[in-house]
Amino acid sequence: MPMIISQLFQDSKSTRKFFVNCLNKGQCVVLPTETVYGLAANALDDKAVAKIYAIKGRPLFNPLIIHGPSVEFLEKYAQFHETAYELARIFWPGPLTLILNKKRSQDFSLASAGLETIGVRIPAHEIFLSIVRSLDFPLAAPSANPSNFLSATNAEDVKKSFDKLVTSYNADLPILNGGASLVGIESTIIDATNPAQLRILRPGFITEESLKSHGIQIFTQPSSQKIIAPGQLDRHYAPDFPIFLNVAKPKPNQAWLCLGPQDFQHDNIVMNLSETGDLVEAASHLFAHLHCLNKIYLSTQAFSSLAVQNIPSIGLGISIIDRLFRGSQKA
Ligand code: TXA
Ligand code: MG
Repeated sequence: MPMIISQLFQDSKSTRKFFVNCLNKGQCVVLPTETVYGLAANALDDKAVAKIYAIKGRPLFNPLIIHGPSVEFLEKYAQFHETAYELARIFWPGPLTLILNKKRSQDFSLASAGLETIGVRIPAHEIFLSIVRSLDFPLAAPSANPSNFLSATNAEDVKKSFDKLVTSYNADLPILNGGASLVGIESTIIDATNPAQLRILRPGFITEESLKSHGIQIFTQPSSQKIIAPGQLDRHYAPDFPIFLNVAKPKPNQAWLCLGPQDFQHDNIVMNLSETGDLVEAASHLFAHLHCLNKIYLSTQAFSSLAVQNIPSIGLGISIIDRLFRGSQKA
């Protein structure tokens, strides 16, 4: 049966060279970013991009984010306007994706799923940047996880979710270990196709409050056009166990995902996103905790579902709730 064989590589000069070679040859590799790990390939090479879709089991209508080393580089492919330059100046390299009109509609036919727009981003991760700077093409890189499953914020979690996964073809998948992703939650996606009406398509590490504090106004009225952000399908980021949100007290057969100091004892598995209730720390632990719970669930069935404590719906809390809510939706 065709399957994925993955291999972990520790960072070194020769490892980086090897990964650059793989990408130049049209192979898919896994690279660390500050948000989550990415499954990367040459965005201009449809054959390479097709491997991303096959490895993830991702529907072809769901476009990929295009990553580059600089605004000058991404300008070759996307139509930047004043507001886009300003957002780039403030937040790049960093956890922000801008949806902009393409320069040429024939570019990225597969990576952009046939849309006239592309999502572009410059990640703030030294390893990723050094690799993408060594290439003469941009990288398409969705989160490095099978479609609809949890994103991964460390190399081991990537390996666990892909190794020996049965797919439509045999693939060697090198994973570059860059440690834990510091942000831990995917980039905020802003539809910036109309500079007068910026909209948040996916809440992420950069919050509406933070955008406002930089004088960036977000348009919150529902769009009359149907925005295609298929990654915002209801069920997404789903582990194998059921998730219940906004629970005050867990049942004995439930694992407990909580936030902040706890004033009762729970006799099943307890994972605290942040002992001090810090939302930044909570975001950085979210996917790693869910991966760990999934491993326990699959190997021991020590709990039958996950109860999640109420998470404040402010700032980064909104992005954390978004991921947990989508993970809680029934298949
Ligand atoms: O932090 C991140 O953004 C990570 C790292 C690896 O960069 N990447 C990531 O990619 O989360 P992915 O493929 O898991 O999520 C990308 C989302 C999807 O929901 C996709 O539908 C949306 O971006 N997207 C991509 N291009 C788009 C476009 N042109 N218009 C609307 N949505 C788009
Ligand atoms: Mg994803």
